[in-house]
Amino acid sequence: MIFPDGFVWGAATAAYQIEGAAAEDGRGPSIWDTFSHTPGKVRDGHTGDVACDHYHRYAEDVALMRELGLRAYRFSVAWPRVQPDGRGPVNARGLDFYDRLVDELLRAGITPYVTLYHWDLPQALEDAGGWPERDTAYRFAEYARAVYDRLGDRVRTWTTLNEPWVAAFLGYASGRYAPGRTSPADAFRAAHHLLLAHGLGVAALREAGAGQIALTLNLAPVRTPPHATSEPDQAAARLVDGLLNRQFLDPALRGSYPEDVLEVVERHAGLGHIRDGDLQLISRRIDLLGVNYYNPSVVSARPGEPANPAFPGTEGVRFEPPAGPVTALGWEIDPTGLSSLLVRLSREYPGVGLLITENGAAFDDTVEPDGAGGDRVPDRDRIAYLDGHLRAAHAAIQAGADLRGYLVWSLLDNFEWSEGYHPRFGIVYVDYGTQRRVPKDSALWYRDVIRRNGVR
Ligand code: NOJ
Repeated sequence: MIFPDGFVWGAATAAYQIEGAAAEDGRGPSIWDTFSHTPGKVRDGHTGDVACDHYHRYAEDVALMRELGLRAYRFSVAWPRVQPDGRGPVNARGLDFYDRLVDELLRAGITPYVTLYHWDLPQALEDAGGWPERDTAYRFAEYARAVYDRLGDRVRTWTTLNEPWVAAFLGYASGRYAPGRTSPADAFRAAHHLLLAHGLGVAALREAGAGQIALTLNLAPVRTPPHATSEPDQAAARLVDGLLNRQFLDPALRGSYPEDVLEVVERHAGLGHIRDGDLQLISRRIDLLGVNYYNPSVVSARPGEPANPAFPGTEGVRFEPPAGPVTALGWEIDPTGLSSLLVRLSREYPGVGLLITENGAAFDDTVEPDGAGGDRVPDRDRIAYLDGHLRAAHAAIQAGADLRGYLVWSLLDNFEWSEGYHPRFGIVYVDYGTQRRVPKDSALWYRDVIRRNGVR
């Protein structure tokens, strides 16, 4: 199964999840520093203070990427390294790190894909109201421009935001992620201002001369279980699809909110925060849609069910537990969800290239002797997961999806947000005690995939 010529193969990470060095070179605190240091918020009190110590070990990590044959590396820039208070003059030492990283990548022949916002909002901006405040979007555009001014001569592909649904609804509605607020109204306002930040960011990047601009969303097909086929079941799926997928896809790619989503927004937050002209800004042309896919969502109608805290407005909707095999996080493994999603995106939102910016799985990996005096991590489940999803991606291309590349989540085991360091998503194992990296069997398998430009 061979992929098209020029198909991009790589891996992804995010700043707070791997960098550590939380107080170095003038970095300010982010909402994730505050949140992870608040007792009870993250499993076992883990924080990103040290993480994979990538800030100091980036050269070693780039060498590893090169050995694995990666062609592309998606990483995020930590806003609080660049603007410790989220506004005002840039902290040159913070940008120096990304400057060194980009140079190291280019020397290794690896194309950098920069994400500007992967959830680490400067704490000072949260103190001023955070994403529910409109001003945060304008601050983001200024920050985006500052990063571009430093790296734009070497970085071609720029992603504004990673998973705004998660930032808005886990951050401000369910409170499971930083900053941990639980207000549906704030969450809907945050969602709109994240979209506005994206639009203003696109404008700033475009004006500055950026080559390719992207937005990365967490997307999933929303299905009903086989036994639930009634009209209310379909309506439940449509509602969740609206909140999760179309709430972001439609404004960014069509310039309008879907009617059914607007109704829910209005009920919880009113519409006063959506101003004339916003949707034109939000829908500025982008080149790529980044797709993060892990599992499908399955819902049915069940009268009396309380709303899911992350999905305000879903009273009477039951989120179904996985029916099939699952990962260590209990996430259903279903590659068909990826193919149907990609095909749908290319049909319903034509004209934008697709890039899988994340796909991968957590499993309980163990380090074992390799029989030759070294170590190995025999992660057969992960290989099966990745293989299945690559086949699904290939099938989607055959069916007409304009898919340009695949970035595995993640290069390294890392800080999995509220779950701390327990879930291991890496194709490279990290021993957090020693910071030793051990490429898992999946990394060696992936190297062959890249060499072959496909799966056997
Ligand atoms: C999506 C997020 O972008 C990333 O930060 C996270 O670690 C993975 N999914 C796995 O949950």
